[in-house]
Amino acid sequence: GLILGIEGTAWNLSAAIFGEDVLSLHSKPYSPPTGGIHPREAAQHHASALKDVISKVLEGHNPADISGIAFSQGPGLGPCLRTVGTAARALSLSLGVPLIGVNHCVAHVEIGRWQCGCDDPIVLYASGANTQVLGFLKSRYRIFGETLDIGLGNALDKFARSKGLPHPGGPLIEKYALEGSPVDLPYTVKGMDLAFSGLMSAAKSCNAPIEDVCAGFQESAFAMCVEVTERALAHAGKNEVLLVGGVGANTRLREMLKSMCEERGAEFFVPERRYIGDNGAMIALTGKIMLEAGQTVSVRDSAVNPSFRSDEVEVLWRKDTGD
Ligand code: ATP
Ligand code: FE2
Repeated sequence: GLILGIEGTAWNLSAAIFGEDVLSLHSKPYSPPTGGIHPREAAQHHASALKDVISKVLEGHNPADISGIAFSQGPGLGPCLRTVGTAARALSLSLGVPLIGVNHCVAHVEIGRWQCGCDDPIVLYASGANTQVLGFLKSRYRIFGETLDIGLGNALDKFARSKGLPHPGGPLIEKYALEGSPVDLPYTVKGMDLAFSGLMSAAKSCNAPIEDVCAGFQESAFAMCVEVTERALAHAGKNEVLLVGGVGANTRLREMLKSMCEERGAEFFVPERRYIGDNGAMIALTGKIMLEAGQTVSVRDSAVNPSFRSDEVEVLWRKDTGD
């Protein structure tokens, strides 16, 4: 059967149908008029975009062929999650099909594995709100290291805003960095964890040409991510690295990860652009895998969880590895 998946943890309301492949995918991003994302306004956007997005992905499909409704249960912004959760419950009840609550981080990993054909990677998940290094160990996606303060994308976006650049800042910073030579900026790795706010403040108050500050910001932040990814790779004894999350669009970050992988004899993977940031296809695909493993949720137990962590999910669909 077909799975309808709905993603809406933050800025992007997106839905998809997954059969044996992604059969349709449609998104309606929320772009704040000024500044960052306001959770309630984003939720309002999702609520008013739901009808269109769902109708679009259903075009050409018979609702009777849908055998499950998957939705992003967390982590994310509470009001956004609740809006999507309500829609998913209503669809599940009205079609009489199971509901599947998908962890957003796990979904990023699963679409990457599916699309790239990699098996057991260490995953660098670098997005706006999240920056984590994950890997499969003892039936769960363990978090080997993560940011202690803000996500890398948010750090880039806030720095950009302070310099008068429009949102999102990441792509513009990448452009400027190409023209600059990197200034020295703080590098903060604590054990296996990362911190970006010191780097961000230093970059905000740095008076060097914007090109040089952008280049310095990237070099420092990306080297931190590469260091933690490399150590997770060595520690877990794996030989694949998968890059996911919006910041994964960055060519410099890809280069740095790729060369680390080459030095270690590991393989480097990054999914297509449309599957790298938040998208409905990753929820639909993970929903399908979970449904096949019997991991559905009753409407009663389907509350959203804004701080849902990947290691709370027992991964019944993969063979256990490690002790
Ligand atoms: P999540 O809910 O998983 O935290 P998100 O809502 O932040 O995700 P994503 O699409 O995964 O959404 O990531 C968006 C982030 O990616 C933004 O902070 C944006 O600046 C950053 N980004 C996009 N393109 C680039 C790029 N080329 N270089 C660096 N950062 C980028
Ligand atoms: Fe995400």
